[in-house]
Amino acid sequence: MSVERGLERRFNKGLTNVLTADERIKTGIPGLDPLIQGGLHTGDVVLLVGGIGSGKTTFSCQFVYNSAEYNDEPAVYATFEEDADSLRKNMLRYGMDLKKLEQKGKIKLIDLQVLEGSGLGANIESVIAALDEVKSKRLVIDSLTAFLSGATEKFDYTFLMHLIYKTLKRENITTLMTVSKFSDAALGIEEFIADGIFQMDNYISNQMEMRTRFIIKKLRGTEHSRSYHTVAFTDKGLQILPWSA
Ligand SMILES: Nc1ncnc2c1ncn2[C@@H]1O[C@H](COP(=O)(O)OP(=O)(O)OP(=O)(O)O)[C@@H](O)[C@H]1O
Ligand SMILES: [Mg+2]
Repeated sequence: MSVERGLERRFNKGLTNVLTADERIKTGIPGLDPLIQGGLHTGDVVLLVGGIGSGKTTFSCQFVYNSAEYNDEPAVYATFEEDADSLRKNMLRYGMDLKKLEQKGKIKLIDLQVLEGSGLGANIESVIAALDEVKSKRLVIDSLTAFLSGATEKFDYTFLMHLIYKTLKRENITTLMTVSKFSDAALGIEEFIADGIFQMDNYISNQMEMRTRFIIKKLRGTEHSRSYHTVAFTDKGLQILPWSA
């Protein structure tokens, strides 16, 4: 059996196919939902692209936390960059108590550092098992770059991105995947495949301060803002504000 076929089987295993009517999911990130007609479509696969320290992890955690805490919707957070403990600690500083929601079975945090070296198939299985365990239809992968770098197998990157996308889509799993961007160059196939691309960048303002800006580069089926917005980091996490230079 080819590596691709094997991955396909592993990725499909254990998932139940429950399609729901087209509906919108509020992200709950202050300032964002009004820019995207009230929220994401269920089943949207969105890339959150950004430079180092631009707020990708904070944004993704808010999505998962709001879902579990305020909408009673369980969510899975796969952290491949920070280990789970430092993530819990960092998010607690914003008042997001992930541990409490994990204990209630509302959030499943998976820390794939422990699986390092065991290959992409194992990473995929862990994500699927976590989604099943808490019966979740919401997923964060932080980051896609690190997730794919777990691959010890040789595989066709384009095939793999299509497979991941198709599976998440079929299962109606609303997914946010962070991608670290180091330059202005286009990313690759994932930009074409994803339903949405949100981008956050740090920049130096005229006052010589580092600021962060946010833009929605695409979101299929949605009339969305096309302007830059200012990102403010508060004691409750980040929020999207009208542009102020
Ligand atoms: N408690 C806090 N209050 C205010 N701002 C904070 C707080 N904690 C972190 N920040 C800001 O958020 C930035 C990083 O956020 P985050 O970790 O979400 O970014 P990231 O894009 O995931 O970073 P990385 O590239 O390291 O993965 C920090 O560099 C800091 O400026
Ligand atoms: Mg991060």
